[in-house]
Amino acid sequence: MAHSAAKPTPSVEPRVAAAAYAASNGLDPANLPRHIAVIMDGNGRWAKSRGLPRVAGHKLGVDSVRAAIRTCGKLGIEVLTLYAFSTENWLRPKDEVTELMSLLSWALKREVSELDKNNARLRASGRLSGLPKTVQMELARSIERLRENTGLVVNLALNYGARQEIVDAVNALIKDGVKDVDEAALAAKLYTAGLPEPDFVIRTSGEMRLSNFLLWQCAYSEFYVTPVFWPDFREAQLLEAIAEYQKRHRRFGGI
Ligand code: IPE
Ligand code: IPE
Ligand code: MG
Repeated sequence: MAHSAAKPTPSVEPRVAAAAYAASNGLDPANLPRHIAVIMDGNGRWAKSRGLPRVAGHKLGVDSVRAAIRTCGKLGIEVLTLYAFSTENWLRPKDEVTELMSLLSWALKREVSELDKNNARLRASGRLSGLPKTVQMELARSIERLRENTGLVVNLALNYGARQEIVDAVNALIKDGVKDVDEAALAAKLYTAGLPEPDFVIRTSGEMRLSNFLLWQCAYSEFYVTPVFWPDFREAQLLEAIAEYQKRHRRFGGI
């Protein structure tokens, strides 16, 4: 494909650039999270505090998504999971849901070239068949276009619910006729199969809860909650969060 043929073959070069970028921001390039997962929260409150409609917060939130992708790309992070729409978000007023879905299609269309330029891949986690057909099509098109890239994996959690994910995984195992399940077998049926578990989970807007996000995968993740609303969470805030991650002592039950 023409768009991927033009890209330089990944070599040691990007790793050197990533390490230099990390170091220039006071980060230890050897202690970066492989997988960062973000609960992008506070768009509505951001808008409300400025007397704007909630959708204005969602729109500006797309710019924060772009900043997060760019920053993770520059750092050489492997996976960035972004919680964009939960299975419970259908409870919102119909107008807001419609606006969120069209914003999603629009953002996918608009951002795909930028993602491609950054050698990023795209994947989605959630019950995708429950999304509007237009979103499903745009998503499939973008995933396909970025398929051969080798950089950051942007994993969009869409119509995502961790309990549903586990139930879906169990049903897939039953369908396969599996009689005895271990952790690896179950993990292999999750939407996130093949991805490393998130090392670092960030939630914006100050809420101290998981809201049905990655219940299985977060068993030993480090958590970070910032009062900053998602539309204001940009490169500086992400770098600050990662600096905090680097101060943590992960024990995994050991010492
Ligand atoms: C996060 O912002 C975006 C989605 C959940 C889709 P919110 O829309 O939840 O904003 P608040 O939490 O109401 O401020
Ligand atoms: C979590 O935020 C879901 C997403 C960020 C997509 P919510 O705003 O839906 O969560 P609650 O309702 O505050 O728990
Ligand atoms: Mg919210």
